[in-house]
Amino acid sequence: MSTQELLGALEWRYATKRFDANKKIPADVWQALERALILTPTSYGLQPYRFVILTDLEKRAELLAHSWNQPQVVDCSHYVVMAARTKMTEADVDNWIQRLAQVRKMPPAALTAYRGMAVGDIVHGSRGKVSHEWAARQVYIALGNLMTCAAVLGVDACPMEGIVPAEYDRVLGLRDAGYSAAVACALGYRAEGDKYAALSKARFDAAELIRKI
Ligand SMILES: Cc1cc2nc3c(=O)[nH]c(=O)nc-3n(C[C@H](O)[C@H](O)[C@H](O)COP(=O)(O)O)c2cc1C
Repeated sequence: MSTQELLGALEWRYATKRFDANKKIPADVWQALERALILTPTSYGLQPYRFVILTDLEKRAELLAHSWNQPQVVDCSHYVVMAARTKMTEADVDNWIQRLAQVRKMPPAALTAYRGMAVGDIVHGSRGKVSHEWAARQVYIALGNLMTCAAVLGVDACPMEGIVPAEYDRVLGLRDAGYSAAVACALGYRAEGDKYAALSKARFDAAELIRKI
């Protein structure tokens, strides 16, 4: 991909307000976006999140009332609810260590120092006290990754913080599993006539946002 194509995709994307409810993301494109989600990097690699992907309308219709009635929830092709771990435990770290050892074909004992570092920080250290917040920050990395990849593949998206997490947790049964909705992302294809598509991209100047030293 050329630099021009990359920037073209990022200029093209916008927070889509109106999706064409009749246009669905093809399976192969969705598979790539799902894989992109999974490939998101996280602190210590711990992946303290779960993604609930809703294509069925029933649950989405229920969530609409807890989303400021934003039509993207029901009109998009795929609605992704991104949930953060509410509290990190030693078991979470061990679960990851087991997986890492299995994938890299090494004994878990070889990862003892790594485990100690992660547990001492994210479970029992100062960040352990705010591990839900920490987990939510990891979720936002996944959100950014998903949106950029969607834009590159010509898929529209709307990141959505306008949701009531407690209600999402209840409807999707997230709390009992130790997760809480942090943010959502509606994906699909823009409806003709969504006036937001025609608005100029508004950002601060580079000189304001970037300091070069
Ligand atoms: C984390 C996050 C949450 C957002 N929540 C909503 C939302 O609930 N509803 C909405 O219509 N737009 C939402 N937006 C869209 C922003 O308003 C939009 O991205 C921003 O104004 C920049 O415009 P652009 O994305 O069209 O370039 C959200 C964006 C982000 C990054």
